[in-house]
Amino acid sequence: MVAALINGKEISLSIREELKLGVTELKNQGVIPGLAVVLVGNNSASRTYVNSKHKACNELGMYSEVIELAEAVSEDELLSVVRKLNNDDKIHGILVQLPLPAHISEKKVIETISPLKDVDGFHPINIGRMMTNQDSLLPCTPFGILKLIEATNIPISGKHVVVIGRSNIVGKPVGQLFLNENATVTYTHSRTTDLKRITKQADILIVAIGVAKLITSDYIKEGAIVIDVGMNRDENGKLCGDVDFENVKSVAGHITPVPGGVGPMTITMLLHNTLKAASQIENKSNLGVKL
Ligand code: GUN
Repeated sequence: MVAALINGKEISLSIREELKLGVTELKNQGVIPGLAVVLVGNNSASRTYVNSKHKACNELGMYSEVIELAEAVSEDELLSVVRKLNNDDKIHGILVQLPLPAHISEKKVIETISPLKDVDGFHPINIGRMMTNQDSLLPCTPFGILKLIEATNIPISGKHVVVIGRSNIVGKPVGQLFLNENATVTYTHSRTTDLKRITKQADILIVAIGVAKLITSDYIKEGAIVIDVGMNRDENGKLCGDVDFENVKSVAGHITPVPGGVGPMTITMLLHNTLKAASQIENKSNLGVKL
């Protein structure tokens, strides 16, 4: 058996087409959804991500601003930029690209973003809402992963989801999202003993550990759905995930490629969240698009 490919690029394009309708609808009501992305310093990976977010916004007809600040910017200056954006009527979504330089508290920055404009879904209020299964702005990568699984039409309820990785951005929230969908969720991480014994029980395996090609076929239950969140370079400098794709595809039932799997979904769900934030802030909650 060879695993079916979960094509994040295609799924993402079809969601973006739908979002475009929502943007047009909002525009007809006099509102242009606006996103501000704040980039601090010169991390080249962060710059690439920020440019992609900006471009995707424009393609959908949204307003987008990129605010670039020097690596040496003080925490106070950054916080005042965020407060200004909180009060800017053109802006419905604020994203401060992480990681930040060591002299700035990410916690303080995240907590300063208005929860209404927190399109990353990182503010403790949005995290708390997600934990208690209330409507909220959901973290983009976990939300994108949920959409990828939904696109397979395989029911999630009752399935055993194993998450490898416990970051605040992916691992922790993705487990919570699947718990909300009535999955049985197991978290594993770098200190887990006998990882294989656990991952072999997974109906859905979500890998976000940041080690190139760590996961080989001996970690996989026959027919499992395998979601690879990794973004690494292999020994030849080629982009690769945390899953050894060529090796695992003969055992898994469904698998995401890298690139073209989770990556495009993250930006798509950011666009989704920006549209949702705009419709909520402007009190236009009855759009034709389901948000
Ligand atoms: N850095 C890596 N992923 C993300 C993300 O989803 N949001 C932000 N703000 N920074 C990131």
